[in-house]
Amino acid sequence: MSVKENTEFQPTIVAFCCNWCSYSGADLAGTNRLSYPTNVKIIRVPCSCRINPMFVLRAFQRGADGVILCGCHPGDCHYMEGNYHTRRRMTLLFSMLNYLGIESARTRVEWVSAAEGQRFVDVMDDFTAKITELGPNRRLEDLRCKKN
Ligand code: FES
Repeated sequence: MSVKENTEFQPTIVAFCCNWCSYSGADLAGTNRLSYPTNVKIIRVPCSCRINPMFVLRAFQRGADGVILCGCHPGDCHYMEGNYHTRRRMTLLFSMLNYLGIESARTRVEWVSAAEGQRFVDVMDDFTAKITELGPNRRLEDLRCKKN
């Protein structure tokens, strides 16, 4: 008897989550026993504005198929206006991604509060489905980072 191998594409998704809202939202999802795709690898940051655009590019270089940034809703940032800086910075980065040949749908900014565990799950489900549809990301891939 042979075990059928799952050859279906499983994307790697990096989710940068701010400590005060989105990470707590993910935590709430876990506490409520809601499940989101295991493809999502969460990186906790103090605030969404801590995410340097280079972090996004580096994630793509290291094999991410999609990168999502989650922060507090506008007006709710723990550091007052960090997410406004994020929004502006990422709008610029996303327009440059097209120039680099990376589909802009591979990146996204979402606002998820600490009370929105279900929203966190919905956002991750939707983003994972979109990235699965797009297929693997080969642009910017750094072959030195590839696992054998
Ligand atoms: Fe959440 Fe700034 S602390 S976006």
